[in-house]
Amino acid sequence: MIKNKLILAIETTCDETAISVLKTTSSGSPKIVSNIVSSQVKIHAPFGGVVPSLAKREHQNNLIPVLESALSEAKLLKEKKQPFLKLDIKKKIDKILTRDGILSEKTLQFLAQYQKPKIDLVAIAYGPGLEPALWPGVNLAKSLSVAWGLDIEKVNHIEAHILANWIDSPPPEKSDFPAIALTVSGGHSQLILVNNIGDYKIIGETRDDAAGECFDKTARLLDLGYPGGPAISKQASLWNQKKDDIKLPRPMINSPDFDFSFSGLKTAVLYLIEKLKKEKKNIKKLVPQISYETQEAIIDVLVSKTIKAAEKYKAKTVILAGGVSANKSLRERMKIEVSKLKKTKFSVPQMKYSTDNGAMIGIAAYFHLKNRKRNTTKWPYLKAKGNLRI
Ligand code: KG4
Ligand code: ZN
Repeated sequence: MIKNKLILAIETTCDETAISVLKTTSSGSPKIVSNIVSSQVKIHAPFGGVVPSLAKREHQNNLIPVLESALSEAKLLKEKKQPFLKLDIKKKIDKILTRDGILSEKTLQFLAQYQKPKIDLVAIAYGPGLEPALWPGVNLAKSLSVAWGLDIEKVNHIEAHILANWIDSPPPEKSDFPAIALTVSGGHSQLILVNNIGDYKIIGETRDDAAGECFDKTARLLDLGYPGGPAISKQASLWNQKKDDIKLPRPMINSPDFDFSFSGLKTAVLYLIEKLKKEKKNIKKLVPQISYETQEAIIDVLVSKTIKAAEKYKAKTVILAGGVSANKSLRERMKIEVSKLKKTKFSVPQMKYSTDNGAMIGIAAYFHLKNRKRNTTKWPYLKAKGNLRI
């Protein structure tokens, strides 16, 4: 039924402008025909974190070039004989993109220049995320829906991170559930009971900072730049582990729930740096050791709580998801600890699908179609939801 459908998936929840084209097949998992990610890291780096207004501006600038690349790579971009756009469509799009400046101009030009591609469905990450970052993506989805007469499939960014585990692999079976998903990104740290695809229950989450945020804020304290996760991880790998005289807390590791708290860890690093400065220690030399201990503290808590949840809910699968799942040490340690549970499988997305991308939005839309759990809307009713929950 859903064979040979082409899905165009848009992601702008944070600082990646990403668009992917997926083709559903008869053999199970859809083919990723193109997957373009334009990162804004360089823009935000001087600020040590994502600046929402700049993210919005960059999405407005980059969405159409990224769309053109994604369609061109999928061989779906065909010029019209003459540039032309119907007046009623132009008027509607003018209205939709009224606050999107350059995106408005570029979209109108794009639609005038190119024929409608063979796309069947537009999928959009409509939350959770930074509202200003979400708007340009949502407004482009509306514009394409109007111009091409297509429905819009609304996708939850966190669900998409979880479902990224099944990109380029056969879909899960009934026997893979219940699963416990640890979703760790720049904005979220949640433990989610997955009874099936589409059936989720949050069983624990951070009470303050997310794990990715903790990496990012600690990196800022250590002058390592943004994004902090990869920077801390790189420094940690330089530490030879000969000494363990720097110890950081493992917040809430023994609490009887599945919640997290990471802001205290960041504060502990701040106090540690102040103490070391007073002692006239060479902080630069200690960066690999501090990074290592920070990473270990975060991983200890994440792994310990995930395993406890997997035991309690008799999970058949432990799923790692979100940008922080790109962390090699976290992947390795989780894999080892899950293997000790004997009857539980471990699943983590391919590295390129761990951090934000369009393919994960597309795979989520595919599962909505496949399982007939649609979250479809017509363009006038689409709204960005910054604090959307799974
Ligand atoms: O999911 P994601 O790409 O964007 C959000 O939805 O927030 O996650 C971004 C987060 C950032 O905090 C970044 O520092 C973290 O993921 N991250 C990592 C690594 N790569 C990205 N954290 C630890 N180790 C990594 N290798
Ligand atoms: Zn994300």
